[in-house]
Amino acid sequence: MEELVVKSTIKVAQMSELTDAERSLVEQAIAATDRSYAPYSRFHVGAAILLKNGVTVMGCNQENAAFPAGICAERSAIFAAGAQYPDQPVVMMAIAARNEEGEFLDDPVSPCGPCRQVLIETETRFRQPVRILLYGKRCIYIVDGIRDLMPLSFTEF
Ligand code: THU
Repeated sequence: MEELVVKSTIKVAQMSELTDAERSLVEQAIAATDRSYAPYSRFHVGAAILLKNGVTVMGCNQENAAFPAGICAERSAIFAAGAQYPDQPVVMMAIAARNEEGEFLDDPVSPCGPCRQVLIETETRFRQPVRILLYGKRCIYIVDGIRDLMPLSFTEF
């Protein structure tokens, strides 16, 4: 039987190693956690995305008593950008999260499956990979496209 080996590349960086644009986006994702509405999980997630025209759009998780009605930070940012700037490719996205104690996580926060699927669609739609920065206090993970987080993804039918 053949074996298919799937490789992903994730860069591990410190804040000091980021470019100004990257650092600024991570700081905006951190700031966006303050706007999160998460009375049920008390897990506050912030996202910031940079569009090709230089505009930054922020998002944060918005929960609801009817749980599936809520939305993650990543999708709230991507959908807000799509609504306001439908023709602008997404260039970069940063994500940060605070736990119940209000502390940022030591290890980088990772997007959930449905958010990865939406990122796949975003890359396909604009024919451009999205650089993704996952913030943790200890380090920041950087991938040069969602495919490194979601191999063998479903893109079309
Ligand atoms: N959440 C996000 O906003 N992004 C993720 O990638 C993972 C989870 C939110 C959803 C929910 O409001 C809370 O975090 C707990 O799952």
